[in-house]
Amino acid sequence: MKTQTGIRQKISTNGKSNGYRTHGKLKTSIWEYSKSVEDSKHIQLKSEYDLFIGGKRIKTKKYFDTINPSNEEVIAKVAYASDEDVNKAVNAAAKAYDKVWSKISAKERSKYIFRIARILQEKAREFAVIESMDGGKPVKESKSVDVPLAIAHFFYYAGWADKLELAFPGRKVSPLGVAGQIIPWNFPLLMAAWKIAPALACGNTVVIKSAETTPLTLYKLAEVIEEAELPEGVVNIISGDGATGAAIVRHPKTKKIAFTGSTEVGKIIMRQTAGTDKKLTLELGGKAANIIFEDAPVDAAIEGIINGIYFNQGHVCCAGSRLLVQESIKDIVIKKLKHRLKSLRVGDPLDKNTDVGAINSKMQLNKITELVQSGIDEGAKIYQSECQLPSRGYWFRPTFFTDVAQSHRIAGEEIFGPVLSILTFRTPAEAVEKANNTCYGLSAGVWTDKGSKIFKVLSKIRAGVVWSNTYNKFNPASPFGGYKESGFGREGGKHGLEGYVK
Ligand code: NAI
Ligand code: MG
Repeated sequence: MKTQTGIRQKISTNGKSNGYRTHGKLKTSIWEYSKSVEDSKHIQLKSEYDLFIGGKRIKTKKYFDTINPSNEEVIAKVAYASDEDVNKAVNAAAKAYDKVWSKISAKERSKYIFRIARILQEKAREFAVIESMDGGKPVKESKSVDVPLAIAHFFYYAGWADKLELAFPGRKVSPLGVAGQIIPWNFPLLMAAWKIAPALACGNTVVIKSAETTPLTLYKLAEVIEEAELPEGVVNIISGDGATGAAIVRHPKTKKIAFTGSTEVGKIIMRQTAGTDKKLTLELGGKAANIIFEDAPVDAAIEGIINGIYFNQGHVCCAGSRLLVQESIKDIVIKKLKHRLKSLRVGDPLDKNTDVGAINSKMQLNKITELVQSGIDEGAKIYQSECQLPSRGYWFRPTFFTDVAQSHRIAGEEIFGPVLSILTFRTPAEAVEKANNTCYGLSAGVWTDKGSKIFKVLSKIRAGVVWSNTYNKFNPASPFGGYKESGFGREGGKHGLEGYVK
């Protein structure tokens, strides 16, 4: 039976095969989804991408493959930027800053950023499909989160460009010069928007590097930038690895470094920039507590837990990866979670029904597998969804652990995958203590019926972003960033301008 929504119902009857019902009674009914694959025929990809420097395509000595992690097929070859190429890019940005970008009016800058936003809006679907192909995330998410939020960030900062005196009342601010920006693979286009938009709005020029596994949407963004007729060299887009990133950080002409990625690399960058005139913002890892009190609306909280950890395969720095549940409701929460896990659809990122896509890379899959094994070895109890996984590509079943002790690695380390660690607490004070018992401090969530409890608990939690009775909600007007080893500086909102001015 096929319904309007594309859901096919297979009904097995009690023995007879005359249709869907026998003796008017159903024995079992299994619901199955028809495939609903996003059309990718209109997607125009090149077989090879060169660096985008000074408004031109620049060839390099070395190229590397970017693959689709859901089927391991090579999508395209992309240029690897060496130290020499980074030098070219930074010089192009410095020239554009001196000759053009620092000379034009704020209103003109604003118009260019608005133009980028509008062109991106026109190409939204293409960007969403490419993001899902290159990185493995469900197209449902790239279409409804990554791309619209990226556009919203360009619109938002386009609005600020000619109003900086309102953002910094009583102060006269000026741009820094060339901003070096290094982004990760979990939200490539969105992270590029978070970084490019405020940099341009404040009058800086940019050299931005994509992550190893997800260079494509940034090169598509280069096409948008060309179409917007942004002056040559104002935004330079390159691809490469850690060594390329390190060359951006080291370059004497980069006056600002904005980094999103691992805490480990964040620490290296901090050491490298210490004692220099470079301004630095770091957005690093997290191990957020999602706290469920016994008076919480449990069904809503279950959705919040699911969204908190399985959104984008758990490749989310602010993921609600530690569930702290009040002991009195532990059993019901776990029972409902098990039930909900059964309905999560894991598979083809381009299928619009997919809830959980492919793991971004082999490397990340290995890391998740290793940490999950440590959870089992250390004595936590594992539960995994029984879904079927495709035979090719990188996949991991939605997973959660109960009986997790605070000393377990899975309670302390960032897994960055679809794996939840469940701990319990008895009193609000214990919840706060456990939530803060981490080297990170990026985000937190609290679920309760009582407004006063929300304020009391969240005011004691050391996290840059907190949600109450919801999770993973983002808006360009609200600042995002961490405490402790989650980094410093804020991106988004008026606060996001601060990192790009002196
Ligand atoms: P990573 O921190 O190595 O990579 C992030 C970006 O930094 C990439 O563009 C990379 O090329 C660049 N990079 C690497 N070394 C650099 C250096 N020395 N100087 C400048 N740039 C450098 O993260 P990776 O290896 O992709 O993932 C490892 C773990 O990091 C993940 O398992 C996850 O736990 C965490 N991570 C956290 C992210 C977040 O949003 N907080 C994002 C990505 C990873
Ligand atoms: Mg890829």
